[in-house]
Amino acid sequence: MIHRHQLGKVPPKPHTTMYEGDKLLMEQCVSKEGFDGPFSILYFRTPPTDETQVEKMTVPGFCPYEIVEEQMLHRRHIRTQDIQVDGDFLTARRTTLVNDDIQIGICKPNQPAKHFFSNADGDECWFAFDGGGVLESVYGVLPFKKHDYVIIPKVTPYRIHPEGGKGTFIVFESSTNIDIPQEWRNRSGQLTMFAPFSHRDFRIPQELLKYDETKHGTGPWPMVIKKGDRLTTHIFEHFPHEVVGWDGFLYPVAFNIHDYQPRMGMVHLPPTVHTTFAGGGFVICSFVPRKVDFHEKAIPCPYGHAAPDCDEILYYIEGNFTSRKGIEPESISLHPAGIAHGPHPGTYAKSVGTDRTNELAVMCDTLKPLKMTKFADTIEDKDYHFSWVRRENDPRDSRK
Ligand SMILES: [Fe+2]
Repeated sequence: MIHRHQLGKVPPKPHTTMYEGDKLLMEQCVSKEGFDGPFSILYFRTPPTDETQVEKMTVPGFCPYEIVEEQMLHRRHIRTQDIQVDGDFLTARRTTLVNDDIQIGICKPNQPAKHFFSNADGDECWFAFDGGGVLESVYGVLPFKKHDYVIIPKVTPYRIHPEGGKGTFIVFESSTNIDIPQEWRNRSGQLTMFAPFSHRDFRIPQELLKYDETKHGTGPWPMVIKKGDRLTTHIFEHFPHEVVGWDGFLYPVAFNIHDYQPRMGMVHLPPTVHTTFAGGGFVICSFVPRKVDFHEKAIPCPYGHAAPDCDEILYYIEGNFTSRKGIEPESISLHPAGIAHGPHPGTYAKSVGTDRTNELAVMCDTLKPLKMTKFADTIEDKDYHFSWVRRENDPRDSRK
């Protein structure tokens, strides 16, 4: 995803023999966009193609999820801090907002990871709200920490072990590649010096995944695959995730939000200046603590806006949220295209003269409208849409 990487042994040329002892290893080429897009080539110790059984599986609320049939055009506040679900990194996933390009879910595992999982519907971007952990995948072992983004390419068999068995994540699942915005790369594919991060900020697996009976059991080994918003469990008689080496452009990476280099201007810059990752029909942006606009009459609080082509969600992490009241860490706000939105009464005026913000949040702007799931409906703050109403004698009113 970031640059070509190699881990372990690979033969000098692709599609040529590679032996371990007298055993010919099986090459598997994972390539996007048919055979024209980015790819990686992996060399498996045992072929990953000989599952002996396939079974149905469901995780209600994730796969499948249900959409609320009739949705009023509202600003929404989804209180994900109220989620209480038991499960591991897969069975604790719950989908909240969806369109054809992206599914946005929350995962709060409280159990050790069980089966490996492979998402054949899209790339995934996990953001660790709380706690670190380890991602095990066919590309190796990738430790991650609190406030990391972890990008996992489509069809990567993986599982997540949160530290202490617990964690809180927001998960973006894209039907297209999740990548660095093209504008941050030069003609050679290198990140430019204008990019808000450098190659050094991205962490890549440095150690191959080795079969370990105490960690991986004695088999058979189930792997859950998501395709077409359906889950199936594929049972293998051997451990199917051990490779002796791989190289290419597809592999999981971790990037910490605090390594994002924010921009500010003389007057307020539009929020997409914080773009971190992009996919088809959406961007993911990082709002990190920073100095704010320096014009002597600048209003650092975001201006009201009606973006007619974008739905916008914000996932609040920590700090004081400059423009909103009644929002807490783990809240998701949704501001759909079609209705104007802007700062809550009082916050606009209060921001004048400030020189820093310590807010930490992840934003996702989508071109297609987002629909709320029935699960999200159960944790929605139904008063949010009208929380901008100004009342006489309200000291928060910015007209005063
Ligand atoms: Fe906005």
